[in-house]
Amino acid sequence: MRHLLSIEDLDREAIERILDRAKTFTDVSEREIKKVPALRGRRVLNLFYEASTRTRSSFELAAKSLSADVINFAASGSAVDKGESLKDTVQTLSAYRPDLICIRTPFVGAAQLVAGWTTASVVNAGDGKHEHPTQALLDVYTLRERVGRLEGLNIWIVGDITHSRVARSCILAFQTMGAKVTVAGPPTLIPRGMEAMCDVAYDLDRLNEADVVYALRMQHERMTDSFVPSLREYASVYQIDGRRLGPRQVLMHPGPVNRGVELAAEVIDSPQAVIGQQVEAGVVVRMAVLYELLTGRANPKPALTPAPLTA
Ligand code: NCD
Repeated sequence: MRHLLSIEDLDREAIERILDRAKTFTDVSEREIKKVPALRGRRVLNLFYEASTRTRSSFELAAKSLSADVINFAASGSAVDKGESLKDTVQTLSAYRPDLICIRTPFVGAAQLVAGWTTASVVNAGDGKHEHPTQALLDVYTLRERVGRLEGLNIWIVGDITHSRVARSCILAFQTMGAKVTVAGPPTLIPRGMEAMCDVAYDLDRLNEADVVYALRMQHERMTDSFVPSLREYASVYQIDGRRLGPRQVLMHPGPVNRGVELAAEVIDSPQAVIGQQVEAGVVVRMAVLYELLTGRANPKPALTPAPLTA
């Protein structure tokens, strides 16, 4: 495997292989010296054009825990502010000969484009509302740890499905692992034609059928219109609170949580919630992804020559 651009790049066997490897990395975090030499001398470039707390820090920590060298690039404060394009930025930074580029942008398909401009492996860390494959992998990992097999599990994904890359990657990953997925939310926040992919519900009346409730944030940054009358009305119908969440249901959320909107405070801190475990899984799962992509690959070819830039 050369890139991880979509969860569709992975079949069940590949997902299991990556997650089994992730499990073997858990002891690294518990050691006094939290580092193994597996990727010594390799360079990982984190290219983030969008806000990130968990994804960016866990990719950095994952790379460093495997002894790779990390270059962190944040679009704000860089020459992007002076008008440099994504392609010119990638080609410029390719001069540092990264072996792997993690990229997050607001543009659907950007990771795929970057893969065509560099000899490095590319990991999609979120491209607009399209995909976020490593989030889905860490969610499958968290569920395996909490409940065991995903086969036959009933998983409800609740909230803004239309603008969520997490929803898209998670639906595909959960189904690949044998779970049954239902998405629930207001009709304005569920894409048309969704029924072809999974079950769809417009209210939470049957939420008690779920083994796992996966709540999503309202992705305001990708909305051009108003999709719900008000957050208060949205919360009254779709918020997961102590009344709606059963004692045996598992609660997930990719973060960041808007407390009091998609989740009530009492469930965030409840024993059903595995939100902290999801964050923790982010490091070992991303270690396993970096390992999968970078070992087994021969030394990278020379970086592409940067295109001449006009003044
Ligand atoms: C998600 C994202 O950025 O897509 N967050 C994350 O990576 N943990 C979800 C979100 O922003 O709501």
